[in-house]
Amino acid sequence: MAELAIAGGRPVIRPGAMEPWPPIDDTDRKMVLDSLERGKHTFGPNCVALQEEFAAWNGNQHALTTNSGTAALHMCLVAAECGCGDEVIVPAYSWSSSVTCVMQHNAIPVFVDIDFDTMNIDVDRIEAAITPKTKAIIVVHLHGLPVDMDAVMAVADRHGLRVIEDACQAHGAKYKGQKVGTLGHCAAFSLNQNKCLCSGEGGMFVTDDEDMLKRAQALWSFGEEVGPTERRDYHVHAMGWMYRNNDLTAAWGRAQLKKLDRYLEVQKENAAALARELAGTPHLILPTESTDCEHNWYNYTIRFDMEALGHADDARAFRDKLVRALNAEGLETMVWQSFILPAMTVFQNKDGYGHGCPWTCPHAEAVDYLPDRFPMAVKHCDSHTGMTSPLRAPNDVELAKLAAQAIKKVLANTDELEDLPAKE
Ligand SMILES: Cc1ncc(COP(=O)(O)O)c(C=O)c1O
Repeated sequence: MAELAIAGGRPVIRPGAMEPWPPIDDTDRKMVLDSLERGKHTFGPNCVALQEEFAAWNGNQHALTTNSGTAALHMCLVAAECGCGDEVIVPAYSWSSSVTCVMQHNAIPVFVDIDFDTMNIDVDRIEAAITPKTKAIIVVHLHGLPVDMDAVMAVADRHGLRVIEDACQAHGAKYKGQKVGTLGHCAAFSLNQNKCLCSGEGGMFVTDDEDMLKRAQALWSFGEEVGPTERRDYHVHAMGWMYRNNDLTAAWGRAQLKKLDRYLEVQKENAAALARELAGTPHLILPTESTDCEHNWYNYTIRFDMEALGHADDARAFRDKLVRALNAEGLETMVWQSFILPAMTVFQNKDGYGHGCPWTCPHAEAVDYLPDRFPMAVKHCDSHTGMTSPLRAPNDVELAKLAAQAIKKVLANTDELEDLPAKE
């Protein structure tokens, strides 16, 4: 008799058992409605307050709220004075805009492989990627696990480089007791739908450096040097975009920020329950958290041991079957990024703006993006699946236990997946 739900068995998690993210209560309703009634819908008082409250919560001197994390990343590039032909070191595995932000300002990404255990940039490989053109390093605290920042800052100091933290997924994560976003020279956070601090869409640029703030602020608001709450002269001093947040979104962000610490506690409790329940499961590689780091468990990412499962040669295809089987058990899990960054078409074609720009810029040196140079990123990419919703409040330890049960059940019955068609 079939055990697995995908083969006709009974699912572990019943439909509707998982609560949607984020939880909404009267604080959210009141703050959003107050903003609506107040009639200041562009960059308004809630935006100013959100910046101040987020900076205080995270321990930054300056914050600018944006309409996305991607916008905040672009601001980081400009704050770090990266431009025409400059090289910026980036991890080979992340969200696309952790890297496309580099080309947005005409600079050239140089990829470094990841460390398989942490899933973050392999800090031991950064120095070898530095050239006379290198201007900055972007580190991504992927899935909420901080990068080994002492190692990164030591390399950056030796070579006079700026360090940009992509903290879009990592609200509240800590390295040696200090929150991410305060460890490099500037940082970007996302406030999009899935993030630990959610306002639908939105972002935050943070820094402690006043000059970096000024450069970022100009890009943020049309290239103007006068901020949106001051008496504007509408004079454009530099290349500018319109990356500012709006009052309604910021009002919701403020309401959610009031609850963020509790949400993060729930996430940690749920991750701890998953780790306890899944410990020792054959063919499963669990995520790590070193003693220096406090994970925020934005995404609980597991890897399957494809060699031990006998699927080293068709890892991707068999992983996809495992994910389908988990989904059939009622577990919301997905392949987060199914391509490593250098393998994506824009990098393989080396064409961002037409005519091969920015790679054909006369100030740029040639770089190569052969995917084979990033074996750890490929191995991770082909063997992982990640969970976000099951970790989020108000889902609790009981749901985490069911999630673990579903994973153990699928891994104990992989024989039922062998003959499953490759596609649904
Ligand atoms: C690591 C990382 N960087 C950047 C971003 C971009 O954030 P946003 O969607 O707010 O532009 C995301 C969000 O998806 C992300 O996960």
